[in-house]
Amino acid sequence: MTLGQSLTRLDARAKVTGDALFPGDVNIPGQLWMKVLFARRPHARIKRLDISKAQAAPGVVYVFTARDVPVNEFGLGAKDAPVLNNDEIRWVGEKVALVVAETEKQAEHARDLIEVEYEDLPPITDPREAMKPGAYQVHPHYPGNIIKHIPIRKGDVEQGFAQCDVIVESEYHTPYQEHAYLQPEAGVAYIDEQGRVTVIVGGQWTHEDQSQIAHALALPLDQVRVIYPNVGGAFGGREDMSVQIILALAAYKLRRPVKIIWSREESIIGHHKRHPMWIKHKLGATRDGKLVAAQIQIISDAGPYVYTSAKVLGNAAFGAAGPYEIPNVRVDAYTVATHNIVTGAFRGFGAPQAHFAAETQINKLAEKLGMDPVELRLKNVLREGSLLSTQTPLPGGTVSLPQVVSECAEKFGWSKRSAVSGQQSAVSGRRSAVGVGFACALKNIGFSFGYQENAWAKVELHGGAEIEQVIVYHAAAEVGQGAHTVLAQIAANALNVPIEKIEMRVADTAMTESSGSVSASRMTYIGGNAVKGACELALKKWHDEERPAIAEYKYLAPKTTNFDPETGKSKPNIAYGYVAQAVEVEVDTETGFVRVVRVTCADDVGKAVNPRMIEGQIEGAVVQAQGWTIQENFITKDGYVLTPNLSTYLIPGVLDVPERVDSVILEYPDSDGPWGVRGMAEMPFIPLAAAIIAAVHDATGVWFDEFPLTPWRVLEKIKRAKDAK
Ligand code: MOS
Repeated sequence: MTLGQSLTRLDARAKVTGDALFPGDVNIPGQLWMKVLFARRPHARIKRLDISKAQAAPGVVYVFTARDVPVNEFGLGAKDAPVLNNDEIRWVGEKVALVVAETEKQAEHARDLIEVEYEDLPPITDPREAMKPGAYQVHPHYPGNIIKHIPIRKGDVEQGFAQCDVIVESEYHTPYQEHAYLQPEAGVAYIDEQGRVTVIVGGQWTHEDQSQIAHALALPLDQVRVIYPNVGGAFGGREDMSVQIILALAAYKLRRPVKIIWSREESIIGHHKRHPMWIKHKLGATRDGKLVAAQIQIISDAGPYVYTSAKVLGNAAFGAAGPYEIPNVRVDAYTVATHNIVTGAFRGFGAPQAHFAAETQINKLAEKLGMDPVELRLKNVLREGSLLSTQTPLPGGTVSLPQVVSECAEKFGWSKRSAVSGQQSAVSGRRSAVGVGFACALKNIGFSFGYQENAWAKVELHGGAEIEQVIVYHAAAEVGQGAHTVLAQIAANALNVPIEKIEMRVADTAMTESSGSVSASRMTYIGGNAVKGACELALKKWHDEERPAIAEYKYLAPKTTNFDPETGKSKPNIAYGYVAQAVEVEVDTETGFVRVVRVTCADDVGKAVNPRMIEGQIEGAVVQAQGWTIQENFITKDGYVLTPNLSTYLIPGVLDVPERVDSVILEYPDSDGPWGVRGMAEMPFIPLAAAIIAAVHDATGVWFDEFPLTPWRVLEKIKRAKDAK
């Protein structure tokens, strides 16, 4: 049994010694270097573009502009973005030209010799303004600037609110977040021995990159190859194209290897961010704490191109009512085009924003009702057979929300919290207030919403009397989350062989078919089912004396349906994960500084394949969500990014992380996951903001409907609350 063991990661040693190669570490003899000319203005028309000086500069091999791109469009949700834009600039990270030279310095020097004459135009930077009739149309595909509207209608909210004894109404705003992965975008492209244009790069889905490159270069798929080596983090930030297409374009045209490494500043300007959302939330309940009605409006800022915004909006709309059964729900969710930086996937994929609002509403409601927030949750959380706002029940067997909520409360010592709350801290020696807060969440596993979820794997069993070697072919990206180790454990378990016999051949489109994206907490579940299925088929052949025994398997998940365009009615997902968090904070009322003291996170993972890696995911998600809630402050003004590096965009450092994160791993098996596995990597991110905000309220008496909880914001609000008294 390798399942359930905290085996050392396959890549641990190489990463510790520095032997592991990341895209920026791969060098090919004779390689050229590329630099991108970004527009660095939010809205403008290019009047004149002159590359002659750059072309003539020392070392320059070629300068690419829009006319060099065979099919000048790309995008995950829709191909609505130009690879190179020489026309109307719509955001600061738009790529205008590419310079390829013998050295990086020469490429950089020549890039600065490109002459562009812009006519700056006024940018639209508030999606609420962009939605108004008569607003400037940001993109020809999106009249009225509404890229997508998702309505959900369940029951009758007017009647529902009429029955309510207590109603809470609030307006929330959630901020941008930068992925801040360890390695900025990098890669190298070349023509391989079979003549294929090949890109070694970091991403989340080899075959999606391959298909977008092939589209832009007007090449058949088999003429494009994508390889992922080790990838320095992703978190959703590598779902969309960054350097993939431009590298392939240059190597294809020049027939020489071409390399690029973005600086941190280029990375922050050049890739999408977590969506800011404006959420109006009205929630009503009876006096005894039964939820009756919820009405929610969500507006998300997409920037000018869709990227994954429409899909993220789906998750936000789905999560808007929170993890509760509410008989009457009305949701209107919009994602809107603006001239701000593009937005897209980031751990949680819309669920964190939606749950922040929904869970803060529940905490406010508990206060209004004079009811314990855990008790209020236990009265209303979704259970087996409960109908979601999409009017269908949750699949997969146990709906463990009551269990994660109860376990989290118990392990945290929730019932003893009055001993903590509102006290002066003895530790800090300053005037500080301590408080506790609670929140919970559900999150879908996989893309679904009508998409046929799938993953492919192939397994070879070599040996004679017994299996001596197992080769697993799989396309899963290892972005630091441990996917390869987990899939090897799944193979070892399915074949009943020690993990040492497993060899992984992974993440190369020339060797594998698609296993889908490492996104949506899906790979252990969906990719794991593919590996398990391939192992079982190979084992059958092995028992039939085939040597080597080779089997391929494509896992197809149960069917789902998309939102009905009028009511949102759907069977949206194949599986879910459930999570609850309790938080203790300390607020320094002189400086406004918020410190997270401890977090208890109860997460139902179905089956813990590698418990230590799950703890790592929980701790990482907690720190990342804490950053979003407290420290990180991505500032834009008139479409410009004012925090384009890690000295101005502060992520939590070692002194900021909680003193303790207690992981409580629950295992209520999902009926379709391999050995009951549920996905889990996003879940511990989702409830934290609401739990922290509730804890800060407990400490200070003040509700924060927007964050980050920077010291100035905290101080100012506390002061205003005092003045109002
Ligand atoms: Mo993700 S945000 O589903 O990579």
